[in-house]
Amino acid sequence: MTRPSCQDTLLIKKRDLKNNYFSATFRTYSRVDQCRPGQFVHIQIPSAEIYFRRAMSIAGVSSRRREIEVIFKVVGRGTRQLGNLHEKDRVNLLGPLGVPFRWPRKSETAVIVAGGVGFPPLLYLASEMVKRGHDPRRIEFFYGGRSSADLIERSRIRKLGVRFHPVTEDGSVGEKGLVTGPVEEFVRRAPNRHLRLYGCGPEGMLKATNELGVRLKVPGQISLEAPMPCGIGICLGCVVPLVGGGHARVCWDGPVFEIGEVAL
Ligand SMILES: Cc1cc2nc3c(=O)[nH]c(=O)nc-3n(C[C@H](O)[C@H](O)[C@H](O)COP(=O)(O)OP(=O)(O)OC[C@H]3O[C@@H](n4cnc5c(N)ncnc54)[C@H](O)[C@@H]3O)c2cc1C
Ligand code: FES
Repeated sequence: MTRPSCQDTLLIKKRDLKNNYFSATFRTYSRVDQCRPGQFVHIQIPSAEIYFRRAMSIAGVSSRRREIEVIFKVVGRGTRQLGNLHEKDRVNLLGPLGVPFRWPRKSETAVIVAGGVGFPPLLYLASEMVKRGHDPRRIEFFYGGRSSADLIERSRIRKLGVRFHPVTEDGSVGEKGLVTGPVEEFVRRAPNRHLRLYGCGPEGMLKATNELGVRLKVPGQISLEAPMPCGIGICLGCVVPLVGGGHARVCWDGPVFEIGEVAL
């Protein structure tokens, strides 16, 4: 694992993605070449009242411009402060942290299952896979939410040329229902079994993806969230139980775990 570092960066671009989602791009981040999809940065919120950093998955990097992007949803005090930042504000990032996703083999089809704030690391994963020459037609990107407003940055996924499957509970865009329904249908119908699942999203979706992988014997990985006081494996504030016994730290041993590894 790359040794993480703390760095002051400037917020150089902030975009309002609607429905309380924002994209924030920071420069100059010297660790862009060490970042991998699934890893995260721990962001110091520029406020005297907020002590703990907030974990944000890396949504993309630009090696040439030394930029790093995160996409976040305003859910509480810390993310509200982040959403109130202005361009040119200084922000300290600790990272890159955590275990990244493993790349699929070129012959494998990546079945990506994204939802909510689990979308940013999977957008990064799909983008990097395409950049590294993975056939975009071997990337099935399932993206679930309550309604169309929850499915942000759809045009970015479409531009990648991957097979995109939006799914909403109210049917306002794509198929109607829970995202894991069409995922299961796809897996069952797949002509060959060279599949690899990648999941990140709300708890229920993660559980269902993990269970589906175990039940249908599809290998893959899921990325977990947990409250993270330190983010560097010291405080044990983020531990989760493992199926085989014992515990793992989400920040240091994860956030990416094998399907069937964690007792969800
Ligand atoms: C590895 C990792 C990657 C993440 N990536 C992203 C991302 O890319 N985009 C994004 O928007 N969010 C992401 N999160 C979640 C984000 O860290 C939390 O939403 C954020 O810390 C909430 O901070 P807050 O101060 O706004 O909310 P708080 O005031 O701290 O809490 C508001 C609500 O969010 C819940 N909450 C707080 N922290 C967490 C947490 N760490 N995990 C789950 N629920 C939490 C609280 O229980 C409460 O209900 C990630 C979390 C982890 C652990
Ligand atoms: S957040 Fe401290 S050990 Fe994981």
